[in-house]
Amino acid sequence: MTKRPLRLGFIGGGLGSIAGNTHYAAATMDGLYQLHTGAFSTHPITNQETADLWHIDPSYDSWMTMIDKESENIDACVILTPTPTHAPIVKELLTRKIPIICEKAFVASLAEVDELKALYNPSEHFMSVTYNYTGYPLIRELRERILNNELGEIINIRLEMPQESFLRPPVSQKYPQAWRLKDDYIPTICLDLGVHIQHMASFLTGMDPNKVMGKMDTFSHYGVVDNVDVFMGYPSGATGQLWMSKTALGHRNGLAVHIYGTKASAHWIQTQPEQLQLHYSNGEKKIVERGGDTLLCGQKRYNRMTPGHPAGFIEAFANLYVDIAEDFQNFQTNTKIKGPYTFGIEEAHKGLHLFHKVKESHETQQWVNL
Ligand SMILES: NC(=O)c1ccc[n+]([C@@H]2O[C@H](COP(=O)([O-])OP(=O)(O)OC[C@H]3O[C@@H](n4cnc5c(N)ncnc54)[C@H](O)[C@@H]3O)[C@@H](O)[C@H]2O)c1
Repeated sequence: MTKRPLRLGFIGGGLGSIAGNTHYAAATMDGLYQLHTGAFSTHPITNQETADLWHIDPSYDSWMTMIDKESENIDACVILTPTPTHAPIVKELLTRKIPIICEKAFVASLAEVDELKALYNPSEHFMSVTYNYTGYPLIRELRERILNNELGEIINIRLEMPQESFLRPPVSQKYPQAWRLKDDYIPTICLDLGVHIQHMASFLTGMDPNKVMGKMDTFSHYGVVDNVDVFMGYPSGATGQLWMSKTALGHRNGLAVHIYGTKASAHWIQTQPEQLQLHYSNGEKKIVERGGDTLLCGQKRYNRMTPGHPAGFIEAFANLYVDIAEDFQNFQTNTKIKGPYTFGIEEAHKGLHLFHKVKESHETQQWVNL
């Protein structure tokens, strides 16, 4: 680890945004980062209020001014603006070789990620995309167990992220924001929710589909796609299904993972993040918990507080930030080691490519090869 905290500049993440406070809390939780500056909002008053809240001085009304003035004083920029605004910011940061930590979805289209991929050189650029749900210890435990063949051959992969926010917006938040009420070729729901579960499926199993079939629906009055079903076919013959929805009443965020193998199946739901259920071919069922005998959940880093004191979303996000700090140190010392728990432009490309093809499948009502 570095001797001093890494200094961050936030772009976006202003007071009242969804992602800002979580990044602030997660990045600073383990003392590895310090928020140095920010262009938190396009609204100067919100920008100043955010800077006041976090005791940040100076802050800037424009991200371009921030990087002009502060590029020597920060280790990385964190991009927390609406997804459709990411591409020009990433491009500028790449041009100036300023390290990037970027919220998913990395960008909004396949064309954008293709353009940025052509500019990206891993020996010159540091880039990390925050697929934060992979930071849950029991999710990492499941990945380890799949790697150890505990589930046998993977035959069925089902992930879902149902939310109710378009029929019953959260009372704590001004929602939906205007940018979420516009769809480009890849609908916003796929960028908001879909890339998380597509990436999670790939992270857990190490498998990527080679064909997709998708259906996109609009059930709310907002006139954008708010419910998407995706069938996936894998080269091994395994099948998969992704479901994302903003019109699923009862689910604030019902992220759920079901992986079926020939020897066992595994089940994890975000509302009970400290429990992983495993069901074996001999009929035995067991619940794996952070406090039990596990492959990796006993590590000190996953036990900021002893088991029995529930850890959740922000701690999982903080786990990812720890891994990003380690990668960053390796990048700085040219060791070129990338940990298994951090993700970049390749993973982002996979997700945008998949949902581009899902849209194509929806339009043609056919399976589309990836
Ligand atoms: N990983 C997750 O769990 C998670 C959760 C929510 C959002 N996100 C992602 O985070 C990003 C932001 O989403 P959100 O829901 O917080 O959006 P939001 O609309 O709530 O907030 C966006 C913030 O960016 C600011 N902003 C907009 N344009 C700006 C600019 N040019 N310069 C500086 N600030 C600017 C806005 O003023 C606001 O403070 C999106 O990419 C989204 O996909 C990820």
